[in-house]
Amino acid sequence: MTSFNNPLIAKSTRPLPRHVVVVGAGTIGPDIGYYLKSALPDLKLTLIDVAQPALDRAMQRLAEYTTKAVARGKMSQKLADKVGQNVHATLDYAAAADADWAIEAATEDLGLKRRIFAQLESLMRPDALITSNTSSLPAARVFADLKHKQRATVTHFFAPAWRNPVVEVVRTAALDPQVLEDLRWWFAMTGKVPLVTADVPCFMLDRIFDNWCNEAALVLDRASAIEIDTVAGEFVHAGPFFVLNLANGNPIIIETNTLQADEEGEHYRPATVFRSVKTWNAGTPGKLVPVAPEAAAAVRDRLLGILISQAGDILDRNIGAPADLELGCRLALGFKTGPLELMRQAGEEEVVRIGERLQGERPGLPLPTQPLTTYQDFARHVLVDDIGDVKLITIRRPEALNALHDDINDEILAVIRRFEDDAAVRGFVIIGYGPRAFSAGADIGRFPTVLGNAEAAAQYARDFSKLFQHLDGMTKPVVAALNGMALGGGLELALRCHGIVAAQDAFMQLPEISLGIVPGSGAMVAPYRRWPKAAAVFHAMMRRNERLTAKVAHENGIVDALAGSYDDLIARAVERVDALVGKVMPPTDGPVAIDGPPPIEPAAANGQKLSAEVLGLLDKAIMDAAEAPSFAAALEVGYRAFGNSACTAAAREGIDAFLNRRTPDFGKTG
Ligand code: COA
Repeated sequence: MTSFNNPLIAKSTRPLPRHVVVVGAGTIGPDIGYYLKSALPDLKLTLIDVAQPALDRAMQRLAEYTTKAVARGKMSQKLADKVGQNVHATLDYAAAADADWAIEAATEDLGLKRRIFAQLESLMRPDALITSNTSSLPAARVFADLKHKQRATVTHFFAPAWRNPVVEVVRTAALDPQVLEDLRWWFAMTGKVPLVTADVPCFMLDRIFDNWCNEAALVLDRASAIEIDTVAGEFVHAGPFFVLNLANGNPIIIETNTLQADEEGEHYRPATVFRSVKTWNAGTPGKLVPVAPEAAAAVRDRLLGILISQAGDILDRNIGAPADLELGCRLALGFKTGPLELMRQAGEEEVVRIGERLQGERPGLPLPTQPLTTYQDFARHVLVDDIGDVKLITIRRPEALNALHDDINDEILAVIRRFEDDAAVRGFVIIGYGPRAFSAGADIGRFPTVLGNAEAAAQYARDFSKLFQHLDGMTKPVVAALNGMALGGGLELALRCHGIVAAQDAFMQLPEISLGIVPGSGAMVAPYRRWPKAAAVFHAMMRRNERLTAKVAHENGIVDALAGSYDDLIARAVERVDALVGKVMPPTDGPVAIDGPPPIEPAAANGQKLSAEVLGLLDKAIMDAAEAPSFAAALEVGYRAFGNSACTAAAREGIDAFLNRRTPDFGKTG
């Protein structure tokens, strides 16, 4: 059985669960239940606990979640009603008899967990899945007494489990590899990001987190808790003591670090202070206190040191994959930057210095065994898989619906460059991670740096387009597989691929005008040369932010084929690669005659008022680009128009509105 990096490539051998039992109605249990019900509204969910009050609170919590989601416009009332239905709370384990999956989310007590699993196993089908949400206890130990160990493992969620996308899925010796693949598929299909780890104490991410907290406590001889939280603010959104208070984490660190110390050595022993302190005088995120330079340097070295130690150890022992470690630290643990990136930024000499200092002050802790470059050789934002002789490149940026930035485009380009002259590779397919988005556009978070500077903004669009220009010159086919929404810069990528296939429910949109800018990386140029008859479609998309469904795009010849499911989409994309071999054409170079955009009121399809100034820039750029003597000259028109749009008051308003989650008011900008 092949294991792919993208968990959705091979369809699960078992259908999505119809009945899930969550054992433990504390905090995380109901949160896991809510995640499942909102992803699979038809699911039967049963919460089991030993205490009725806990079940009552859990049911109330679920109801509050749906009410909030509706109030915030994140869920329709109809969906909320469905999410609230078919949820059961019981003290009776017999309810698990017909469940497809039981998730244990009880207290971290090995004996208790074993008793729960014994009960579940006595009731459930031998092929039903049983998983534990333990954050530290190895699966081999938790499931030691099970008869059918091949269907049991750890699935470790992170708070808040209904929203945090990360789940560690543990590869145990006894687990059927197909079950691991099925779980990965289930999670990815329901919006989670499964990260596979080895079956060691604390798995991958809590080795970072627990030791980070323990190190913070061990360095209390150099600075106070609030000072340490301040120093830690360079690396995390919330300092270790603040988080420990929030999660009532002291007993957890005592337990998990004792486990590591017993198994792996005294250097993991929890700081004794955890036993005497209940609440820390912690720092508030974003609020800094003055820290004496020497103390700050000592604390910084130790905190960075523990990250270097643990990141090196995780990779040296193959506990998890480097890109997963980085992603998990950011999304699950709240680090601003992953430890490997911090190591890259620090450089070899500094990593060695900090490592040596750590070893002096904390003998026994592991340090990276390889030179820094060895740990840096991995793709951060894309997954690469072989589908026969086609390379499948998956954009994985789940925190931003796969929104693109230069670094991601450069990584895609690097994969293409690496294999385009390889005779064994027929072509490439680019797809988005998860079922929802191919890509939600260019990363809007990076726009503010170029606002008000036409030259810098034009250069930004040029740099972002390096990948697209490379695609223009290729002879080996690259096909975009639109697994969901393809917006803005993400659609500009797809439009420059040599073929496009799309899931039936995928859609395309060029929402830039709703942000007060124009789409600068080819959308005002390339589609008019490739599908001149569909000019009106592209006008409407760019000028009114109209949505183009995959079906209509297919009717207009923009999309080559439609597919019913993610795996079917990949199959269609590979077929398209095959059909394009030897037939890839460069973009039309000379000027093109297109119907000009008709006069309209500056308003979007949804009625939102738009900027007349930006609409004017857009219309002019579309026509100037069509008349440009060459494709390259036309692209330049686009880059410069983007630069000019970035200098409008509308751009400031539109980008600020998006970043602050409000509706832009172009009425005041013109
Ligand atoms: N750039 C940066 N971040 C983006 C993004 C983009 N283009 N598109 C989505 N995201 C981020 C969101 O900010 C959010 O991050 P947060 O959880 O830290 O707040 C996350 O992705 C999920 O998006 P969210 O807006 O919460 O999901 P939603 O289902 O409510 O809405 C969209 C989805 C696509 C309608 C909405 O995200 C959107 O309008 N995105 C911008 C699309 C766009 O204008 N693209 C063109 C840019 S060139």
